[in-house]
Amino acid sequence: MRVIMLGAPGAGKGTQAVRVAEKYAIPHISTGDIFRANIKGGTELGKKAKSYMDAGKLVPDELVCDLVADRIAKEDCANGYVLDGFPRTIPQAEALEAVTKKLGAEVDYAVNIDVPDEAIVSRMGGRRACVGCGATYHVVFNPPKKEGICDTCGQTLILRDDDKPETVQTRLNVYHDQTQPLIDFYAERGKLATVDGTRTMDEVFAEILEKLGE
Ligand code: AP5
Ligand code: MG
Repeated sequence: MRVIMLGAPGAGKGTQAVRVAEKYAIPHISTGDIFRANIKGGTELGKKAKSYMDAGKLVPDELVCDLVADRIAKEDCANGYVLDGFPRTIPQAEALEAVTKKLGAEVDYAVNIDVPDEAIVSRMGGRRACVGCGATYHVVFNPPKKEGICDTCGQTLILRDDDKPETVQTRLNVYHDQTQPLIDFYAERGKLATVDGTRTMDEVFAEILEKLGE
């Protein structure tokens, strides 16, 4: 199963991608997590990506396309993968299409998690992310067992720099401008599966599985 998660920032792509990956025993590939790990590790890629991310802008296509192409060609992606946060622009979607055609394994579904902007803003302020493994929580909707500590790896949970309200608005604008056109891109190819992202996490997951033909 090769799946793309589409949706606005905070729509729940990461939350659902983890579940889909577990269900099908395939890797969860989040470009945002890859960049954050590179920033933490002080790599060249991290240095280049940081200023764009902190401003709520997209990292340039050339920094992300090859990275994903290499990642999905790896052995552990032979049975599929969940791409979370990629593609985010039409050129990225075209690059992915070219590479998957070459690999002889095209994407099966683009799952679009639909959430209106008003709901996004309130969700982001409550999100907490693990500095260690990238796991995501919400202070109300999905709290960790111990406040401020990751259930999975025990490291500290933080409010992401780009989750400040003013940056969230920029990210939403960037989403509408550059990423939303991908909904039509995948609809035209008969691959779009839209789910209502305003429901509970379990309900959203159930709808995704239904759309994936489970
Ligand atoms: P990225 O990390 O991908 O951020 P994003 O797309 O803005 O998405 P988020 O991770 O903020 O939201 P999400 O949809 O994963 O929601 P989550 O599950 O956490 O990218 C960050 C930056 O990296 C970009 O701005 C860009 O600069 C750069 N970048 C990354 N990829 C790139 C690319 N391909 N090209 C260029 N630049 C790129 O959920 C949000 C919160 O809501 C959580 O607290 C969660 O617990 C809660 N929640 C989830 N579902 C529900 C529900 N059903 N009900 C209630 N609460 C819920
Ligand atoms: Mg995410």
